Amino acid sequence: MAMNPDHPASAASTTPSSTPTGGITIGGDPAHAGKRLAGKRAIVTGAGSGIGRASARLFAAEGAAVLAVDKNIESVSETVAMIVADGGKAIAAAADVGNEADVQALVARAVAELGGLEVFYANAGISGGDVPMSEQTVAQWQEVLRVNLIGPFLALKHAGAHMAAQGHGSIICTASVAGLRANAGGNPYSASKAGVVSLVQTGANTYWGTGVRVNAICPGLIETGMTRPIFDRARAAGSQDKLGQINPLQRFGLPQEIAAMALFLASDDASYVNGQAIAVDGGLTSSLPFKRRAR
Ligand SMILES: NC(=O)c1ccc[n+]([C@@H]2O[C@H](COP(=O)([O-])OP(=O)(O)OC[C@H]3O[C@@H](n4cnc5c(N)ncnc54)[C@H](O)[C@@H]3O)[C@@H](O)[C@H]2O)c1
Repeated sequence: MAMNPDHPASAASTTPSSTPTGGITIGGDPAHAGKRLAGKRAIVTGAGSGIGRASARLFAAEGAAVLAVDKNIESVSETVAMIVADGGKAIAAAADVGNEADVQALVARAVAELGGLEVFYANAGISGGDVPMSEQTVAQWQEVLRVNLIGPFLALKHAGAHMAAQGHGSIICTASVAGLRANAGGNPYSASKAGVVSLVQTGANTYWGTGVRVNAICPGLIETGMTRPIFDRARAAGSQDKLGQINPLQRFGLPQEIAAMALFLASDDASYVNGQAIAVDGGLTSSLPFKRRAR
């Protein structure tokens, strides 16, 4: 391969310490295919179901040792059993992601039992239901914000401190298209997810110069435990064909399609991706709700 000394990838393979990347591994190397997280230690929250389970399984399949976390120990233990059956390495932990002592303990446990921490996927979330504003209570708002926004903040605070000290790491948060536009969730849910979009922007800058990357994924409609009532209602009404029809791909998404983006952001392939909220939504947020032009 011709070497371009001005290109960080070329320079990194010869003189890593003198490049603008410091000692950070540059991504995009075909040799890493199939083991994109080899040697990395990852915490995945909400790993007992949906997007978190798919991500924990994919991370482990790509070589990571995973601390799989959920408030529901039975479901996250099932996830770990799946990973182990597939030949991967994972341990289960019960924790409340909105509780600071729990998050601090998770980071300490990853370091003690997995030997370190390079990736924190703050994915756990709750929908908060769909309640008219006149009936929403302060307590409901506080609980949605506590889990969906303070949870990711605690990940940035505690995992970020550890990663900044070691000089590298990737923090990923699950936001939502509901954090970008109206009509994809209730008021507190949408506000919490808009907060996550802001948090990854400010967080990436908080960790300025440390090598820690902070990004969010904004999923569209994905079939998971959270959206099961929508799917059940549609199937009962015989209208399941309509689910996801309002995006250009005209279908809903699967948890593994979000896990694939999480894998990318966790891996060194995303070595230059930072402070972004990336929609994975079939194109839903690319359009305005006006009449489609004829082809
Ligand atoms: N499914 C969708 O269409 C969709 C769209 C956009 C964003 N999201 C987001 O994706 C993330 C994952 O949700 P999902 O769709 O896989 O739903 P899910 O309900 O299948 O999984 C969420 C998991 O988080 C866990 N959890 C909830 N509160 C917790 C807490 N306080 N501490 C620890 N664990 C907790 C639950 O027990 C559950 O296992 C959430 O942040 C959600 O808001 C989902």
